[in-house]
Amino acid sequence: MKQQRILLVIGGGIAAYKCLDLIRRLRDEGASVRAVMTRAATQFVTPLSVGALTNEKVFTDLFDLDDEREIGHIRLSREADLIIVAPATADLLAKMAGGHADDLASTILLATDKPVLAAPAMNPRMWLKPATRRNVAQLEADGVRFVGPNVGAMAERDESGAGRLAEVPEIIAASKEILNETHRVYAEHREIPTSEGDIRVEGAAAPHAIPALHASGPLAGRHVLVTSGPTYEPIDPVRYIANRSSGKQGHAIAKVAAAFGARVTLVTGPVVLPDPPGARVVHVETAAEMLHAVERSLPADVAVFAAAVADWRPAIAPRQKMKKSGGDRALELVENPDILATVANASARRPALVIGFAAETGDVIAYAALKLQSKGADWIVANNVSPEWGVLGGDSNTVHFVTGGGTQDWPPMSKDEVAQRLMLRAAEHLRRTATAAE
Ligand code: C5P
Repeated sequence: MKQQRILLVIGGGIAAYKCLDLIRRLRDEGASVRAVMTRAATQFVTPLSVGALTNEKVFTDLFDLDDEREIGHIRLSREADLIIVAPATADLLAKMAGGHADDLASTILLATDKPVLAAPAMNPRMWLKPATRRNVAQLEADGVRFVGPNVGAMAERDESGAGRLAEVPEIIAASKEILNETHRVYAEHREIPTSEGDIRVEGAAAPHAIPALHASGPLAGRHVLVTSGPTYEPIDPVRYIANRSSGKQGHAIAKVAAAFGARVTLVTGPVVLPDPPGARVVHVETAAEMLHAVERSLPADVAVFAAAVADWRPAIAPRQKMKKSGGDRALELVENPDILATVANASARRPALVIGFAAETGDVIAYAALKLQSKGADWIVANNVSPEWGVLGGDSNTVHFVTGGGTQDWPPMSKDEVAQRLMLRAAEHLRRTATAAE
């Protein structure tokens, strides 16, 4: 990183203290570092310590007239090769995504045309909130690059999940990657040999036009396919057979997988939930449509079948509304395709990890173990959906995690937490399988 100029925007979070080490390591690598601190950041580390390590003036306030005369926000961003935002708090990400410019840090971030690397750090619940998901998806679409957050214990006691600031070496590695790439893109676009053999200088590609890396995270670079919600099986044009699935668990898994850096395809039956930001969402109604959409979305590294697919559909669905005819009527049902079993037994395009759900009202674990075998899944997440458990439509879940190696009873937790545990295990499983194959 010799001669590279880094502008470090320090956000106001407990992880801000790690910036002191980041500054030292960046300088060890030969970079020069200038720091801008938000007002909140100065509550966590002092500008004095930051300035001592950067060996430069620290910039904290947009309305410092002296600084505006000396060096304005435009110059601050112009005189940098890369802007690192660390810790990128939920608030700072929201400001960046919304284009706010009400303090020096946000003004620089709005004014800059330099590459921006954000290292988020926040409470895992904040990282998973729809607002943050939307902001991150927007910023990725805008070309902002991300490193982390990592998964692990938080500063608050008893809190863990995705939200820890990436480690300093990871931030350095991501910075180097962007700087090398920027250099390459500039070089490719500047020096184009013409037919006369001389060098023509093209307008340099704006660094923000560089395609975003896959977001980092435990599932970065993976494709996770999730089914969710119920299916509607038509009886006639106005009536259908359905079930009480809300789609909350499947949607939570899609959201968490995206938050863990995966490319996510969510195939969902009719639900009232919003589409999780960052996921490609395919809306279907029937089991047959769901199977078709799932098959078209393969290959995937992980497939999670959380949908409550109707086991049967009416044998015939007339095009006209059925009329009362003054008597009883029987409805003939035929079996639907089993999507999970079809994908789990597909020899060529079987995902490396196939996860099924089992919703039962009794003998939950025994049925789940049977299902693991009969359907060919790797794992089954089993739960009791008897009405007294309040799982259907509720926000929490009590599940048993069933694998070929045995069963684990997970304590009651929110559907978001079930999703996090499950996706962490999936990431770990893929990592171990990859290491074993090397
Ligand atoms: O057989 P049962 O419906 O209990 O199995 C549940 C599991 O199988 C769930 O993972 C569900 O998404 C999946 N399934 C499926 N296609 C079906 C029926 C169930 O993918 N037709």
